[in-house]
This record gives sequence, structure tokens and C-alpha cells, in this order.
Amino acid sequence: MSNKIVLTRLYNLILPYKYQFMMAMFAALAVAGLSAAQAYMVKPLLDKIFFEKNTFYLAVLPFALVALFTVKGFFYSLYYYLLEKVGHTVIRILRIMLFNHIHMQSLSFFHKTSTGELISRIVNDISLIQGTITTVVVGLLRDFFQVIFLLVVIFAMNWKLALLSLFFLPAAALPIVKFGKAFRRVSTRIQEETADVSSIIHESITGAPVVKAFTMEKYESDRFSAQVMALFKATMKNAKYRSIQHPLMEIIGGIGMAMIIWFGGKEVIAGNATPGTFFSFLAALIMIYEPIKGVSKINSTVQQGFAAAIRVFTLLDHPAEITSKPGAPDLPIFKQEIKIKDLQFNYDEDIPILKNINLTVPAGEILAIVGPSGSGKSTLANLIPRFFDIQHGSILIDNMDIRDVNLKSLRDQVSVVTQQTILFNDTISHNIAYGSKEQSEKEIRDAAHAAYALQFIEQLHEGFDTVIGESGVRLSGGERQRLSIARALLKNAPILILDEATSALDTESEREVQKALENLMKNRTTFVIAHRLSTIKNADRIIVIKDGRIVEEGTHDKLLALGGEYKALYSLQFQV
Ligand SMILES: Nc1ncnc2c1ncn2[C@@H]1O[C@H](COP(=O)(O)OP(=O)(O)OP(=O)(O)O)[C@@H](O)[C@H]1O
Ligand SMILES: [Mg+2]
Repeated sequence: MSNKIVLTRLYNLILPYKYQFMMAMFAALAVAGLSAAQAYMVKPLLDKIFFEKNTFYLAVLPFALVALFTVKGFFYSLYYYLLEKVGHTVIRILRIMLFNHIHMQSLSFFHKTSTGELISRIVNDISLIQGTITTVVVGLLRDFFQVIFLLVVIFAMNWKLALLSLFFLPAAALPIVKFGKAFRRVSTRIQEETADVSSIIHESITGAPVVKAFTMEKYESDRFSAQVMALFKATMKNAKYRSIQHPLMEIIGGIGMAMIIWFGGKEVIAGNATPGTFFSFLAALIMIYEPIKGVSKINSTVQQGFAAAIRVFTLLDHPAEITSKPGAPDLPIFKQEIKIKDLQFNYDEDIPILKNINLTVPAGEILAIVGPSGSGKSTLANLIPRFFDIQHGSILIDNMDIRDVNLKSLRDQVSVVTQQTILFNDTISHNIAYGSKEQSEKEIRDAAHAAYALQFIEQLHEGFDTVIGESGVRLSGGERQRLSIARALLKNAPILILDEATSALDTESEREVQKALENLMKNRTTFVIAHRLSTIKNADRIIVIKDGRIVEEGTHDKLLALGGEYKALYSLQFQV
């Protein structure tokens, strides 16, 4: 992505706020002009008051000075505030855009991209862009105006001296050029090392139970220390360059200053200039020097901001793989049958995970899917709500291809209860009501009741208002499962995808989860990936998947009598 494209896109983001932006620029212009006026005022101050001993000027100038500072202060506030406002507004909007865009991505995108990376895009990179917009865009403009105005002042004071100093100003900027490249390199390294520090923190904290169980505290501590050391080294390199750059600039500036004093002093002694002119000139020169020193910092901020903007825009350009076709109709309420025809599916690699799947499931049927681990059961279930698109064949719901209907209308009709229960760090009632339109207290309570969750919820200190911790860590496994069952009950979608957890619960918990599931399956068309014998026996039909194919199909009794794959699985999993 070229710098020009990045700039155009940033510009387009600012465009809606152009009036505020222009006002900020106008205020910046005023600040710059008033700074030049301050330098100019040194001349009457010295010449009239200190040399001519003029009492009128003595009475007026102090007031003029206060007035100047006050007006400048007003414009400064205006400029600073408006600029921050525009910058942070853009950042807020960009964050929301990025967040929404990430959530439009298909599941495979999330499988390929790490959480830490996405968080870093939304949090760190966007802050870096904000730095570019506010500090740089207008900081640079203000400094630019200021330099121009001050140049006018020094030329007005003494053009010969002005020419002499114009020769020295660029020389003072030499260290900036010299160190610029090194700064960029070091700052990129600091960024990378910081990202690695965060990822170690993230990993080791989320993995705390494993760290403890395997007593890896020392190992993690060493890993972290090494990484923090790498960051320290990069930071110190940066500090080293800075510690040299600054005095180097001062020394070159000092030499220039000495020359100017020598030359200026000669002019004053010869009577070609007044002391006021000379000091006014000097004040302006010192003020010009400040923004020039700032250039190196602005340069590194721009470099970082651009790199961040490229990362953010690239992510924003990542197409959402699974979307509704334009104008796709809504899927009518499901009534008749789900038909899978000649389905073939693979993830990224070319190895097919599911092959030649043909299956018709009439409304109201409970279909159990069984098969060895890794055979493709969860994959098949994930295709019905179109979490992935298939490579060959079709999935029809009431004779409409799921790729031809509006995605939201499809997913509204499918409830998914997954192998891993996914809960949010929020209250129990918000977790149950997640994704449902009906959110009245009674309905949430009824859902909890039908999911056999009411009893344990009521025993909690704050009942339905209890916050359950990240991923529901403050609940037991069985309680978590019953909460996600309650959520699916409340959503009340006609199609249910149930990926039973393999982890065995204790018998009491197991029985409650089982009863909750029975309530959930009532009056629904259910695809259940079954690990429990009771679920399998309750199913209307069982399919056995092996290596991505349906190898057997029928009722429990029929399949047992067949003496094939199902019989083998059955004796492996359920026979004591
Ligand atoms: N996101 C993914 N990207 C690539 N391959 C995947 C992905 N998810 C699963 N697979 C692969 O697809 C195959 C089928 O996985 P799937 O999760 O459907 O198995 P399963 O039958 O549900 O197994 P289990 O009973 O253990 O849950 C496995 O070989 C797995 O490695
Ligand atoms: Mg699975």
C-alpha cells in the first residue's frame, strides 16, 4: 500500500469533520502569528524602555504583553481541543469499523488469526494512527506556519544576519537526518518486542492452570525475563541515540549562535543595528529552532503511524468470505425438510474432510451423528448454519439453497450448542438472553427452569444477576452446559445443532444435563452429535460417520443387529 493511498484514506476519514479541522488550523495559524509577534516585541521592549527610557512604553508594553499571551492562550486551547476532538473521533469510528469488520469474517478467519493480533490492531495500531493525525498533521502545520512567520521577523530585523543563520539552521538539523534511519529501525524493534511481551503475558495468564499443574512458573518467568530484556535492550539503544542526538544539535546550534552573536555584535557596535533589533532577532531564531528540533520526533511518529495504518487498512480490506448475496430473500420459517446433496467439504487444505454426503432430515426428526474422533461430525454440523461454505453439492432447507438466502434469517433459525460452552463475563440473565429477542424476566426464568439451571442459579448470592467470570470460570462444567442449553431454549429456533460435550460429568450433573437436553430437543429438528447412550437411544435415526463418509444409517437396534461400525463403536464407548 503506497503512502499516497494511506494518506487518501486517512483524509477521507477526516473529511466529515473538515469544518472543525479547518477551524483548528485557523487557530493554529493564529498561535503561530502571535508567537512571531512575541519575538517582535523584544525590539521595542529593549530599545524604548531600556535604552531610550521611554515611560509611555513602560506603561503600555507590560499590558500589551499580557494581552498577547492571553489571546495566544485562547487560540491555543481552541486549536488543541478541536484537534484532539477530530483525532479521537476518527479513532473511535475506525475502531468500530474494524470491530464490526472482524465480526463479519467467517469462522475460518478466526481459526487463522490469533486473538492477540486482532486485539493489537484495534487497540495499539489505531492509537498509533491517532498519534499521526493529531500530533503530526496539525503539529506539523502549526510549526510550519510558525517557522514562516518567524522567518519574516528575522528578515525584517536584519537580512544579512538572517541569511547567515539560514546557513546554520539546516546544519543544526543534520543530526536529525543522520539519526532518522536508526530511530526508525529501533522504534520498529521496540514495537515488535513489546508485542512479544504482551503475547507472553496473555499466554501465561490464560494458561495459568496448566502453568501451575506442570509447575512451569520458573520456566515462564525465565521466558518472560528474556523477553523483557530484549525490550530493554531495544529501548536503551533508542535512549543512547537520543542522548547523543540532543547535545549534538545543541553544540551545532551553539556554534551558529556564537557566530551570530559575533556578527550581530559587530553590527550593533558599528551602529548598523540597535540592541533591540539584535535581541528580537535572537528571540525569533531561538523560537524557530524549537519546531526544527521537533521534526525528528514527528518523523518517527509518522513512520509508526503509517505502518499501523497499513496494517489496519489491510485488515479492513480483508473480504468477508461468507455473506448474503445482494438482495437475498429471507428463509421462511422452516417447515418441511433439510436436504444435503452430494456434499463435499474441505478446510484450507485440499484433503476432503467430508465426502459424498447425502442426507434428508424431515422436520421434527432427531438425528444422531456418531463416529470416531476426527471423523468430521462437528464439521458437518457447522455447515448447516453456514459457518463454512462447501466446495461441492448443496444444502437445502425447504428447497432453498442456504447460500441463496439472507444469512441472518438462516442463523436465526438455528441454535447451536457446542462442545465447548461459550459464556461471557456478564450476568447469568444476560448470558441466557444472549441473541434472543424475548428478554423478559419471566421468559429467562422459564428457560433456566426448563434447562434444570434454576436451582443452582437461585443458590447463588445474586441469583440471575451474578456475574460468572471470563468464560464462566466461576461455574462448574455441568452448570455451564445447562446455561448454554437455557440460552438455546430461549432463542427457540426450529433447528437445533447439538454437539454434546465428551467430558464425563458426575452422574447427578449428567442426569440434569440430560433432562435439560430432552427439553431442548422437544418439537425441534435436531442434529445431535451424540456421546451419551441415552441421547442415541432417544434419536429417531442414527448415522455413523467414518473418514468423512456416512457408512451406516438406521435405528439403534437395526445398527446393532448389523454388527458393523456402530456395533464396534457402541461396545467401545458404552459397554462396561
Ligand atoms: N478449522 C479447521 N481447519 C482445518 N482442519 C480442521 C479444522 N477443524 C477441524 N479440522 C479437521 O477436520 C477433521 C474433522 O474434525 P471434526 O471437528 O469435524 O471431528 P469430530 O468428528 O467432530 O471429532 P470429535 O469427536 O473429536 O469432536 C479433523 O481431522 C480435524 O483435524
Ligand atoms: Mg467434534
